[in-house]
Formats: sequence, C-alpha cells, structure tokens
Amino acid sequence: MQRTSHKPNRRRKGRRNFLAAAALSPLLMLGRQAAGETIDDDDEVVLRFSVTSDVHFPNPPGREPIFTFPCNTQVIQKRRFRKMIDWVCRYSASHRYPRLDAFAVNGDMTDSGADDERLPFRDIMDQGLPPDTKRVLTVADHGFYLSSREHWEEVFGTPISAHQVIGGYHFITLSPPDTRYGDGMFADQIDWVHQQLKDAAADDPEKPIFFFQHYPVSLPEPRDPNRQPQWLYGRSTVRCHKANWGPSDLFGLFQEFPQVIDFAGDSHYPICDPGSAWQDRFSAFGTGSLANLKMLEEPYWKYPEGRYEYAQFYMVEVHRSGRVHLKIVNLATETILPLSFVIPAPGHPDSYLYTDARIDSYPIPVWEDGAVLKVPYTSEHGGGFRFEQTKNRENTQSYRITFRQKGKTDGEPALEKYVWSEFYRYPVPDSIEHFEEGLQPQTEYDVSVTPISFFGGEGKPITASFKTVENRPPYY
Ligand SMILES: [Fe+2]
Repeated sequence: MQRTSHKPNRRRKGRRNFLAAAALSPLLMLGRQAAGETIDDDDEVVLRFSVTSDVHFPNPPGREPIFTFPCNTQVIQKRRFRKMIDWVCRYSASHRYPRLDAFAVNGDMTDSGADDERLPFRDIMDQGLPPDTKRVLTVADHGFYLSSREHWEEVFGTPISAHQVIGGYHFITLSPPDTRYGDGMFADQIDWVHQQLKDAAADDPEKPIFFFQHYPVSLPEPRDPNRQPQWLYGRSTVRCHKANWGPSDLFGLFQEFPQVIDFAGDSHYPICDPGSAWQDRFSAFGTGSLANLKMLEEPYWKYPEGRYEYAQFYMVEVHRSGRVHLKIVNLATETILPLSFVIPAPGHPDSYLYTDARIDSYPIPVWEDGAVLKVPYTSEHGGGFRFEQTKNRENTQSYRITFRQKGKTDGEPALEKYVWSEFYRYPVPDSIEHFEEGLQPQTEYDVSVTPISFFGGEGKPITASFKTVENRPPYY
C-alpha cells in the first residue's frame, strides 16, 4: 500500500478578485459557463484531478505490432496525450484554486506494454505534469501482453494496486496481476479492497472515496433479461458497447460504501452519453478513451465514422460543501461540454441523479414544429434521406429508420437501420443524412424516422414516401 498526502490549498480570495480574474481569463469563463456551474464564493474548489483511460500508445515505426488499432500511430497519440496534459495544467493554473492534485490514467496506456510504448508514455506524463501532481495509475490486459506486473511497477514507481491519500481524500487503484478477465478476476484481492474501503471510511465517513480500475463494475445479474433493448437492461452499470460488460466482483462491496465514486475504462464508449454515469448505492462513471470510440453493438453501428478523432476526459473538482463535479472535456476542440455530472452529496444515495429511474423519467425526443423527412434523391436500391435533429437533441441518442413497402403498415419491415445522433461530436451536427442501398428497384416505399433517447424512450416518427428507380442494365 502506498500512502502520500499533502494539505489542500484552502487560500481564499474575495469575490471581487475572483470576478476580476474571470474577466481576464477566457478559459476560466468558458469552463464556468459551459459546464453550467454557478459561481459560489462559499463553495470553493478544494481538490482537482483529471481522469482519462485507454490512451493506447501503439508500437513505434519499425516494430511489428502484436495488437493495433488501424489509423492509430504513436505520433498521433503522443501529440494527443501532450495536448491533454497541457490543457489540464493550463485549466488548473487559470483558476482561483490553481492546483492539479492528481492525474489518473485508468489502464490501457499502451497497446501491448512494450518499453517502446510505455517509456514514451511515462516520459510525456512526467515532463508535462507539475512535480507535485500525484499519479493515479491502473493497468490491465493491454499493459501485460509484452510485459510483466513487476516491470510495470518498476517503470511507473508505484504498485499496480495502491491506496493514496491526496489532499485529504482517499484514492484507491485496483489492477489484476495479468490478463485475467471476467467474474472472479479480483477474488484474491477482494479482502485487500475491503480493508482499504474500511480504512478510508473510518478516516472520514463524510468524504467520497475515489476508486479506479480498468474494467467497469457490472451488476451480478441483468436488470431484466426479458426486457429490450438489452443495452438498457443488461449487467453493465456504466454504458458499454456490450450489454453485459465487466466483472461483478466489486459490486456487492461497493454497495456497502455509498461514498465510493468509481471510475472505469476499457469500453471506449463516449463519456458524453449520460448513461456513462450510473448510481445506485454507490456512483460509477465510464472514462471513455483518449484514442478511439466504440459504440453500442447490433443493431447499432459500433464503429462510427471518425471514431479516431474523438477523445474526451474528465476534469473532476471537489467543492468545500462536498459536492463533486465531473466536467467532460472534448480534447479536439479543447472545450468543456454542456453535459457534466454532479454528485451533490456523495454517500447519500437519496441525492443521486443518475439512477436507473432515468429509464422511465428521461425526456422523450421531440421534433421541431414542421419537421420533415427529405428524400433529396432516389436510386435503384434506395436513396438519400435527410432530417433536422430533434429540438432536444441533447437528449437524443439515435434514430431508427424504417422502410416498408407502400401501404404495408404491419409485419416485418422491408429494412430497418439505426443511426447515431452523432452526440459524440462537438458541436453536434444540426442535421443527419443517411444513404441507403438495400432496397428493391422500382418499388414504392414508406419511410419513417423515430428518435430514441439515451434511455430508450421513443418520440413520434416523421415520415415520407418515395419510389426507387428501375433496375438499369450495366453501362458499357
Ligand atoms: Fe482500451
């Protein structure tokens, strides 16, 4: 167990000084306003840390990889990682509370764990961060393909599982010793975890305990195996590309410690989906990826166009009142997104906002008045389909496009596709275009587009009719 600590900076300045500083700092104003945070002089920040994961430094040129994501290069990831570190340092320094107390990377720093991936990662981190910023690091499968637990600990100078006290708050990391995965993977570490949680809770029962492990905590059983869609009713707590992703080893233990705020990576699912936050007795958050996205699987398209361009991470701030605020930063535009997550009173589940009750209570997507589905062209096997996004697009995850032969209102549709609202982009596009080539020639169709919320609620469809063109002989 590793313990380090320092006193939080509790220096206070007057409201007038703060507002004067804000007027001089566009970055500060952007952060405050975009995240919807009110300026409250009595609830100052007392702790700040960033969380990212799945950075996936790949092999350098000249070495054959054992694993790689196409389109990813070490040059790209070095640039991206430096940019993130620069941003979190500038952001912190521009605030009244100027510290970056900790920097968390929640596993999959590299593709394979080889030194020619790991050392550049470590060096960029060490060169970019302030010397007094604590590292909160975990490792899992991608750190072990070409390396051992002992070597990882030697390179980073920390145990793979550790308990630190940073600024008076407890940070616990948990890593498997190798590539093991699935239920039972933490069986021989669960007693150690339990003891760390008890120690942390005994130190101050009113403070959150920040916990980090690579794989998301899953429920022991699906919420309801018979209900659809399974991405809502499966075992996953935070949203993942698979409905039953992650081991359930920690779930029961965390339920006993409602002050636990858990961070997990691995899925690469974008964190700007509100389903990336989950609360029951404890709180859990997905940490996405700084390398590339993976979306829900069938019937959705798991690999959206441009998946290598999107990278998001958390900037977490703890306030004097105990409120914990997770701001989501879009790295490409260096923008704090309008969506952020707030835990007003960690350890008090009756105050939690991100429970499964959202399946019933979340806003239904609503079209703008007069919304139309346009068919700008048709072809032998389909055509182009275009529509403006719903007026509450911030609540709209996707759209179902249903094709039926004209006049057939029941039975199996001729074709059905799901398209994303592209919520993972910033800014989110105003309109969506779909190009279809899976229909029959010279056939009349009715097409409808149904908007779907982040929690499965469906709005009313908009419709259009069209006819595919006749099958033409090949052009010679
Ligand atoms: Fe990963």
